[in-house]
Amino acid sequence: MRQHVNPLSRFFQLPLQLPSPGELFNHPDQPIHLDIGCARGRCILGLAELNQGWNHLGVEIRRPLVTAADRDALNSVQGNVRVLFCNANISLESWLAALPNDTLHRVSVQFPDPWFKRRHRKRRVLQPALLLAIAAALQPGRELFLQSDVLAVIEPMVALTELSGCFSRPESDARPWRADNPLPVPTEREQYVLDKNLPVYRVLYQRNAHPLPDAEALESRWQELDNPAETVFTEA
Ligand SMILES: C[S@@+](CC[C@H](N)C(=O)[O-])C[C@H]1O[C@@H](n2cnc3c(N)ncnc32)[C@H](O)[C@@H]1O
Repeated sequence: MRQHVNPLSRFFQLPLQLPSPGELFNHPDQPIHLDIGCARGRCILGLAELNQGWNHLGVEIRRPLVTAADRDALNSVQGNVRVLFCNANISLESWLAALPNDTLHRVSVQFPDPWFKRRHRKRRVLQPALLLAIAAALQPGRELFLQSDVLAVIEPMVALTELSGCFSRPESDARPWRADNPLPVPTEREQYVLDKNLPVYRVLYQRNAHPLPDAEALESRWQELDNPAETVFTEA
């Protein structure tokens, strides 16, 4: 089985300045879909072909996958898709903060690497700081889509997203998991899981109008929730 990249290793801590939409896309003012951990880019490249009125950006920490996926992206005549190398936890926050208001319309985190152990929790891609950067860049109604075939992977992501208070689910969506994928193109991992008839756990969130919570408070509440055995309760 493929070994995951350790995003905490020193090499991946180097911040990169990601290009602005103006440098990436032919029509930079189109809405952006950002796919975090896009691997070979099957989903984001396919969506770009289907939805030419949007721009599509995949980010991925494994460079050989990025090289292949971005080669395909650069060959697209629409100029509405790119795949960039970065550690999403190091380089995305400043890129998101610099986006023109209401440019980002959808973010997806699909089948992220399964770091189960508590001591590996800092390697998980959806960390409080990244979630808050995403929430700050999304206007009310804009979407965050999460999916995984592993409950122990999606549950902490859902817990964190809901703890932030910044996201709500559409009323009509089934609980706890959405019945289907709102995106018309499956990822590599999704196709593999579907071919084996295994379950997929999906949640679609929409940014609500709540202000961002305090980052440190969110981090410590998430620690309590995700690591109940490590929580030290003090008496009031
Ligand atoms: C299990 S794969 C799933 C890939 C794809 N989303 C799919 O569903 O087929 C998770 C991907 O996230 C990437 N990844 C993990 N941590 C990352 C990080 N901090 N920044 C960017 N990509 C990351 C991995 O290299 C891997 O390609």
